Amino acid sequence: MELPVIDLAPYLENSSLDSEIESVCLEVSRTLRETGALLVKDPRCTAEDNDRFIDMMEKYFQQPEEFKRLQERPHLHYQELNSEPVIPEGFPEWKSTMDSWGYKMISAIESVAEMAAIGFGLSKDAFTSLMQQGPHLLAPTGSDLRAYGKEGTVFAGYHYDLNFLTIHGRSRFPGLSIWLRNGRKMEVKVPVGCLLIQAGKQIEWLTAGECMAGMHEVVVTNRTTDAIKRALEQNCSLWRVSSTLFAHIASDAVLKPLGHFSDSPLASKYPPICAGEFVEHELAVINLKGNKGA
Ligand SMILES: [Fe+2]
Repeated sequence: MELPVIDLAPYLENSSLDSEIESVCLEVSRTLRETGALLVKDPRCTAEDNDRFIDMMEKYFQQPEEFKRLQERPHLHYQELNSEPVIPEGFPEWKSTMDSWGYKMISAIESVAEMAAIGFGLSKDAFTSLMQQGPHLLAPTGSDLRAYGKEGTVFAGYHYDLNFLTIHGRSRFPGLSIWLRNGRKMEVKVPVGCLLIQAGKQIEWLTAGECMAGMHEVVVTNRTTDAIKRALEQNCSLWRVSSTLFAHIASDAVLKPLGHFSDSPLASKYPPICAGEFVEHELAVINLKGNKGA
């Protein structure tokens, strides 16, 4: 089984909800429910945009450790409007590239959130109205495959994400596996020009478990080592850059089953809680377990 690719263009081009759009929205909600993940093609987020971002991050991660230590981690919070991120010396394109890719991925997530809401039988803005001012976080990571490219190396152990939806640009090195609702494990193949979206714990809360947070891991597989061989032959970077954006529900918004999901027999498993408090609680549990965060 492969994940279907949902083309967002017809949805973005049509303001009215006709039967074709409605059936795409149903496919979005069905795929999220069954797999916890979704591949999308968004005309606003091109393969060239993804390449520009990854090229810059590869160049950054290739710098000596002393250089990278001068910077804070290359995270970008989309709520902290007043704090200017540190721009590494020699990267004049840093801010515009980060901002542009971040906002493009947020736009894709917002469209998917609208489509999922429609597909789940909620109002179009049921999710997006709760995402306004959410502490969205663009958190690129770099893994040095020269040092950590052995098959079986774990970059992120089995876990779910605690936020609402997570979106990844296509990585040049595969390695992500997801667990489907039926318990089967599946390696994710992201086609060129596509983005991958994953369901986090907050969407599970809002749908009373109809859409469960997707379990996943990132491990060096034989497909990763094949890509390493190709990169070596072509003299390409061996830094595995992931461009991940964690979209959150606003901290002061209440997480609780929405609309008809409040009548679900499982609704009592998802009592009302402020999203900010929920995140703190989840992080405390993760720290207790000694695992890495989302
Ligand atoms: Fe994750």
